[in-house]
Amino acid sequence: MRIKQIHRNIGISIEGINLSRIDNNTFQEIKELWMKHLIIVFPNQDISDEDHINFGKKFGELEVHPSLSHRSSKNPEIYRVSNVDEEGKIIPNKETSWQYLKQSWLWHTDSSFRKIPSNGSILHGISTTNEGGNTLFANMYKAYDDLEESMKQKIKNLKVVHDHDFIISLSDELSKRKNKGNYDKLDPVIHPLVRKHPSTKKKSLFLSPHTMVKIVDIDDSEGRELLDFLIEHSIQSKYVYKHIWNNNDIVMWDNRCTMHSVEPFDNNTIKRIMHRVTLVGDQQPMMA
Ligand code: OGA
Ligand code: MN
Repeated sequence: MRIKQIHRNIGISIEGINLSRIDNNTFQEIKELWMKHLIIVFPNQDISDEDHINFGKKFGELEVHPSLSHRSSKNPEIYRVSNVDEEGKIIPNKETSWQYLKQSWLWHTDSSFRKIPSNGSILHGISTTNEGGNTLFANMYKAYDDLEESMKQKIKNLKVVHDHDFIISLSDELSKRKNKGNYDKLDPVIHPLVRKHPSTKKKSLFLSPHTMVKIVDIDDSEGRELLDFLIEHSIQSKYVYKHIWNNNDIVMWDNRCTMHSVEPFDNNTIKRIMHRVTLVGDQQPMMA
């Protein structure tokens, strides 16, 4: 394995391995490096969806995403992050399924709408672009650590309502439509604003702007102001790695201590196809 640092505060790349055939020692090593660096980029992984799924399953069970129109018809564990349908045609901009997916351009943490959110995600760039479409990842441990002591005190016991429907309400297009798309039913959930990672025991900010409706027991506008402050603080470039994709990059990230967003690209002309598997969480986020 050749390991390189890719940003001073977050992420490494690993070359010289093939994720479709790794032995147990290599797997253990990857797991440790992942906990330490939060995100790992694996370039040159020309592997099948089945190999992708098998690599994911080494970490545990895989999620099936609540949005029916983004599941791969062959493998329900593959979430198709794509503006191209399974026949290879670009999805028209106004189409509900694209309008939903476009919400990944906003900062978020995967599956924050679940009672037990995902542990991590593994994304395979199948057809990538550098004309936009880069993915940004923020180190939420470091964002938390650098807060002033008074802010840490202020937020330490706060809880946030997260709701899958909030993603839809943030879309100008979908919010005014009667048919907002086809999703599994999910009730709102409450998560701590500062969480403790079950493996590293470190504290981080738990933000997922696209599902965060409000802070519990705080006036709505005051809560919104506080969340906006924390979001702006966390997305400073010192905390953020920008991934510029090559085809067959695989990027994996820990959803318990990072958040991410996608930079806009011209979805009417550029085909961007990414396949994701999502690791089922093992426990509710712990208050720090
Ligand atoms: C995701 C996502 C990232 C990307 O897969 O969870 O938000 O680069 N998309 O498309
Ligand atoms: Mn995502």
